[in-house]
Amino acid sequence: MATAMKWKDEYLIGIPLIDSEHQQLFEEINKLYMSMKRGVSVKEMEDLLDFVINYAKTHFADEEKIMQQKGYPEYPEQKEQHEKYLSEMQKMQEAFNESVEANINFKDVIERLFPYLCNWWENHILKTDKKLGVFVSQV
Ligand SMILES: [Fe+2]
Repeated sequence: MATAMKWKDEYLIGIPLIDSEHQQLFEEINKLYMSMKRGVSVKEMEDLLDFVINYAKTHFADEEKIMQQKGYPEYPEQKEQHEKYLSEMQKMQEAFNESVEANINFKDVIERLFPYLCNWWENHILKTDKKLGVFVSQV
């Protein structure tokens, strides 16, 4: 059973806007997970899922803007990772909607989603966004 996502200082990449958005994302993803464990209505879960996905979109747009402004050479690779994440999220959201329509417990979908989110964000921040932080500090 997964536990909450713990924020660690090693996730800081040194760009204040991006760091605070990452922290906010961790909080929202944890809210989603805690709500699943506590048991909330379909509507509440739907709203939480929407929020997490939309927040990620805003965050990626902010990150991509910085990359373009700074002429970051790995922008295409980053953008590709962001797009892959969003298409994965769309699939998860569809799976969630289908389970709601079919009256199946949506907990299963969130249980599957949560480890994906934990792994994705940890990897993406440590391996990909960190490099952006280093680049920005040098230009
Ligand atoms: Fe990123």
